[in-house]
Amino acid sequence: MKTYNIITYGCQMNEHDSENIAGLLEAMGYTHEDDAFKADVTVINTCSVRDNADKRFFGVLGQFKKVRKNNPDFVLCVCGCMPQQPHIVEKINKQFSWVDIVFGTQNIAQFPQLLEQRLTTGRRQRAIVDNNPVITEDEMKPKRMYRHKALVNITYGCNNFCTYCIVPYTRGREKSRVMSEVVREIECLAQDGVKEVMLLGQNVDSYRDPAGHSFADLIKAVNDIDGIERIRFMTSHPKDISDEMIDCFRTCDKLCHNIHLPVQSGSDRILKRMNRHYDTARYLEIVDKLRAVCPDITISTDIIVAFPGETEADFEETLNIAKRVRYDSAFTFIYSPRKGTPAASFPEQIPDGIAHKRFDRLVDVMNSISLEKNLEYKDKVYDVLVEGVSKNADDAYAGRTDGFKLVNFTSDRKPEDIIGTTVKVRITESKTFSLEGVEV
Ligand code: 5AD
Ligand code: SF4
Repeated sequence: MKTYNIITYGCQMNEHDSENIAGLLEAMGYTHEDDAFKADVTVINTCSVRDNADKRFFGVLGQFKKVRKNNPDFVLCVCGCMPQQPHIVEKINKQFSWVDIVFGTQNIAQFPQLLEQRLTTGRRQRAIVDNNPVITEDEMKPKRMYRHKALVNITYGCNNFCTYCIVPYTRGREKSRVMSEVVREIECLAQDGVKEVMLLGQNVDSYRDPAGHSFADLIKAVNDIDGIERIRFMTSHPKDISDEMIDCFRTCDKLCHNIHLPVQSGSDRILKRMNRHYDTARYLEIVDKLRAVCPDITISTDIIVAFPGETEADFEETLNIAKRVRYDSAFTFIYSPRKGTPAASFPEQIPDGIAHKRFDRLVDVMNSISLEKNLEYKDKVYDVLVEGVSKNADDAYAGRTDGFKLVNFTSDRKPEDIIGTTVKVRITESKTFSLEGVEV
């Protein structure tokens, strides 16, 4: 029996691509091997959104040299966002000769063929296209990471060209899947026992299928699917979010009371230079509307500090908007220049020392707000969809509230009786990044 392993970096798009790749390998008769260094075929699904992802990737590639030396039949594959950049493929070809197969984000369906060719001819395989017009999702049979929840692509690619971001170059132009096909996929998932779906797109709010259906139309259609209990989506873009979509938080009972709404910066001047197409007044108007329609909505965000040209005053404005919105949680990043993006050649790059100081100040503010928010949960009872055994303790379970708060809790029930079900949990302790509780 031949075995495979997949190492996945980056976002949920990549996670879902890896589920599809796993599905393809299993259809070819491969079985999963936990150790990437012992498998017959290892796939590294890469991310290039920030520089640290690049560095980690090349480090890992280096470690596989020995594996190949000891086992000439071993097949090493690289896919994801890194090989969408010609200079990266060149580097792999020159410095990492033990990489057998390289394929792009839009060539996943070709992978079985590439693997066959590699195995029969022994030759290196490369397949990277920029804008594959064929969306192959409907032919995929993903091997899902979770039984009760599933990732579902609704759009591919991105047209927004935020000046810091590599994604429009690595994932190509935006394409929306046909609504009826997305609905059919989710109906099948529901029949398979899936209770929660996460609708995925770089900018879900610009979803528009060939028949003219909007993202709000899609949410309403998914809300009608029997068996589905929770609908989530990511990522929203403040420039495209519609009032009709916001109203779905009132009209669609399965839509979770949670939104990830990246603000990126609290300075209008920087937002302009980022090419974000909204200002802080518009952003705050959206937040107020969301809270008016759905008072208990939880809000998370992404923030970049030390974008080229960011002054102390710009940064203070970021701190201000964070305090004004009071985010439940935030992903904070130090700006990382990405080759080929406009901002990488902006002249006023911020020195590392200043960047790190601002980053630490922002994290302190964000964490204290998160903790304050989580303290409001103490002694109250919430519905928690149980995801599995807790990472922290064997005798505890982990799950999420409707608002996406991570809850570690104790229960007398056996894993097979509780995982994948929704239970009532009383919160006994609030931490910065999670809650603790007991089943009631
Ligand atoms: N540097 C730092 N952060 C970045 N992000 C995207 N590109 C960069 C970059 N070059 C962040 C943004 C985005 C999140 C997924 O990653 O905040 O929302
Ligand atoms: Fe990148 Fe902006 Fe597209 Fe998001 S919307 S993927 S940040 S270019």
